[in-house]
Amino acid sequence: MIRSFFIWLGLALSVSCKELTDLEALASAPTRCTYEHAYDMLGAHCGGLRLTKIPSLRGGIEILDFSDNKLQELHADTLSSYSSIKFLYLAENQIYMIDKDAFASLSYLQTLDLSKNVILALPDSIFQLPSLRKLYLSGNPLLHMSFKDLTITKPIQAPLELLDLSDCKINKLPDWGILPKMVLYNISHNPLTTLEPQHFSTMCKLAKVDLTKSIDNLKLCELKATVIWFQEKNVYFHLSDYNRLNTREFDNCPKPEISATLNASYHLCEKVYTQVQNAKTSRRTWLTISGGLAGFLVGFVLLLYIMHRHNVAQTKRTAKEKTAAAAGVKTATAVQNTKTSRRTWLTISGGLAGFLVGFVLLLYIMHRHNVAQTKRTAKEKTAAAAGVKNATAVLLNDVS
Ligand SMILES: *[C@@H]1O[C@H](CO)[C@@H](O)[C@H](O)[C@H]1NC(C)=O
Ligand SMILES: *[C@@H]1O[C@H](CO)[C@@H](O)[C@H](O)[C@H]1NC(C)=O
Ligand SMILES: *[C@@H]1O[C@H](CO)[C@@H](O)[C@H](O)[C@H]1NC(C)=O
Repeated sequence: MIRSFFIWLGLALSVSCKELTDLEALASAPTRCTYEHAYDMLGAHCGGLRLTKIPSLRGGIEILDFSDNKLQELHADTLSSYSSIKFLYLAENQIYMIDKDAFASLSYLQTLDLSKNVILALPDSIFQLPSLRKLYLSGNPLLHMSFKDLTITKPIQAPLELLDLSDCKINKLPDWGILPKMVLYNISHNPLTTLEPQHFSTMCKLAKVDLTKSIDNLKLCELKATVIWFQEKNVYFHLSDYNRLNTREFDNCPKPEISATLNASYHLCEKVYTQVQNAKTSRRTWLTISGGLAGFLVGFVLLLYIMHRHNVAQTKRTAKEKTAAAAGVKTATAVQNTKTSRRTWLTISGGLAGFLVGFVLLLYIMHRHNVAQTKRTAKEKTAAAAGVKNATAVLLNDVS
């Protein structure tokens, strides 16, 4: 009896173990989107679920990781219910079609990852997203088709800081116009047939260009003008092989002068950058002023309330004192004097208290605003530094 039980148990165990190894990955993997909070943001993880559609998600999500799924088309209504999204990861899907209004409602979108899809053409509207700072388009093999006759509205409104066009089969770099905030331009792994400094002179904050495996088809002297430009503007550039530039042949290439046109577009970029920064500063000033005003109003209302309470108490007392006054004028004067000075003192201290409360409130509001700002910037920096595709993991995991 006992022995047969053990035999049965052993059998059951071995069967279940076998099943576990076979189906382990499948069984333990989540089949639905999961949610996580990080830095005051709500994130939805739907990565690697073999989904062909974005399921109905909670409202108010600010991060959506939908990478590694089977999404094919982005229509106007695909994302329209999630207008609060700031970080959108759609890498490794099968997206080939993007409607021009697909991101229309995402006015807070900061990071958009469309890497490793099969995008044929990018709608113009992507470049007009008002908050878009990072755009990853790496590994979309047909992207060059849309760049050949790029008819994009310039200047681009998106405040792009990072543009990843690596491995997009581009031969000729598109003319983006002025990109005043661009810092990192990744054009690695493209079969470039030309490289001109004017592709970079419109990016006056450019710090890094990745040209790894992109200039192998170019003759050495064709690189000279761009290399001189990078050196002049302190732009760091990645190459697969720097030795090419350390040759006598490169030294002997004719040294072109930096043209007035290049200088002009660079200066225009600087001017636009200053304007954008000024607009930001004035917006911040406006916020501070309105915060101060709100604080003052709260203080004022508090003061009115204190005075009202005080007056109610006073009126009650006055009624009593009138009776007393009938008894002696002298006493009444004394009472009147102390009353007046007490009221003045109370009004002043009430006003002061109200003002202080308003001021503290204002400081608190400003502090909260700054903390949120700093946290977000730091977080984004971490994600950028790691160069992460699954940036959601970084965003959500570094909560300590
Ligand atoms: C540029 O893109 C390639 C390929 O996606 C990547 O390996 C590389 O790290 C990127 N370069 C930078 C500087 O981020
Ligand atoms: C462009 O500016 C550089 C310095 O930034 C200068 O050396 C060069 O002469 C200028 N070119 C022209 C044509 O003004
Ligand atoms: C992305 O990160 C999340 C959270 O750590 C993880 O669950 C998920 O498997 C990752 N996705 C990919 C494709 O690596």
